[in-house]
Parts: sequence; structure tokens; C-alpha cells
Amino acid sequence: MKYLIGNWKMHTSVSEAVQLAGRIEDGIEDLHRGGYDLPTVILCPPFTALTAVGDVIDGRNAVLGAQDVHEAEEGAQTGEIAASMLKGLVEYVIIGHSERRAAGETDQQIQQKLARVAEAGLAPILCVGETDPSDQAGKAIIAQLDAAFVEKPAREFEQLIIAYEPAWEIGTEKTADPTDVTQAAATIHGWLEEHGAGDADVVYGGSVTGENASLLTGITEIDGFLVGHVSLDPQGFITILDRMTRHE
Ligand code: PGA
Repeated sequence: MKYLIGNWKMHTSVSEAVQLAGRIEDGIEDLHRGGYDLPTVILCPPFTALTAVGDVIDGRNAVLGAQDVHEAEEGAQTGEIAASMLKGLVEYVIIGHSERRAAGETDQQIQQKLARVAEAGLAPILCVGETDPSDQAGKAIIAQLDAAFVEKPAREFEQLIIAYEPAWEIGTEKTADPTDVTQAAATIHGWLEEHGAGDADVVYGGSVTGENASLLTGITEIDGFLVGHVSLDPQGFITILDRMTRHE
């Protein structure tokens, strides 16, 4: 598995973020001492803590991601952050998280955000996933992918990660059914192949924990995890990393 992404959402003060990043780095270094080859750990703190966390991880192991970005290049957008402003600060940007889609983010904004992020030389982590558990046929995922890559086709991205996150699995303690995850990831890979982006990676997100990680690491269709609430618990997050490592 290639990636372990921690999405801290709207949590942590700057000092809490610094402490959390330090503990995660210590945990990564313990695993390195064990001689393990580790996936890339991407930490996505709130904007307010990016610089401070960047200082903690500098020269160590993890890399930084942002949780969102604005779709415009720059301008009179009070309180917003443009992709060009993230350049040099982060390497990855989460786009289209289901919490943002639920708050009204449109397909058009997502298309534009993807294009702005690529123009800034950053790698998008595009979240897709059904909102309705009865939609298991992958129709919703395909519709989201079709809608996301209108301004800039998927094949034109140098690096692209798609996070499959069924909305009803997020923030619960429920373990995802590996068969469903496998099927959805295969649908996404199929779409990517068809659109000339077969090299893109697919990760799973939705209540990944140290307990269920072992079960999910067996799914060859996924290249890692996007972790929400457990990424705020350094021990739990490192346990996930440990499970991913030992699986290989
Ligand atoms: P969760 O969140 O791990 O708390 O379910 C995942 C996400 O929303 O990215």
C-alpha cells in the first residue's frame, strides 16, 4: 500500500497539531527502526496549522496536504485559500470531500478546484462515494468521476489519488464490507483506465481503525487509506500504519 492520509478536519489548535504531528513522526520512526518499508504518510491539518506542522515534519517522514482549496485563481474571496497560495506549503490537496459536497459544493467547483490544484503543481486527492447505501452499482461514483474531470481530463494529471468514501461509513465505528470496497475500487480503476489515467491510485476512507485495518489491507484494489477521526489519535493512526506495513 502506498498512502496513509490523515484528515484532521476542523480539529486541533496550533499547539495540539504540533504535538500530534510530533507523536506521529515518532511512531513512524519506530516502525522505520523495525526495518519496514512504509507507505507515504500525508498529514492534512487545518490551514491554521499547516506551517507549524510543516516545521515539525521537515526533514522527517510525513508530507503535508490541505483539506480543501478555492476554485478561483485569486481575487476578492474573503476567507478563502487559492491553490497558488498552497504551493510550496503542501504537496497534496483533498477535493470534494463528502462533508463539503453535503455543505453545497458543486460538481463545477470540484472541476475547477482540480484544475487549479494541477496548475499549482500539487496532487489532488479527489473524494468520491455514494451517499445512499442502496446504490451499490457504482453509478454514483461514475457520475462523480464524469463530472469532476470536465475542465481538465483525468489523463492530464501528473499525480492523482481518488479516495473512495461511502458517506454512511464516515465517522462511524462500522467496518466497511471488504467486498463492497473491492467492487467500488474496481469500478474506479475501470473508469480511470478507460480515461487514460490507469496510473492513478485509489484509497479507501470511512471509519478505518487499527482494528479493521488488517482486514482492509488485504484488498489489492486499494492503495491506502484516508483516515478521519483515528488520525487524531497518534497511537491508533500508527497502528493502522503498522498493519499496512506488516501486510506487505
Ligand atoms: P473517518 O473519516 O475516518 O472519521 O470516518 C474519513 C474521512 O472523512 O475522510
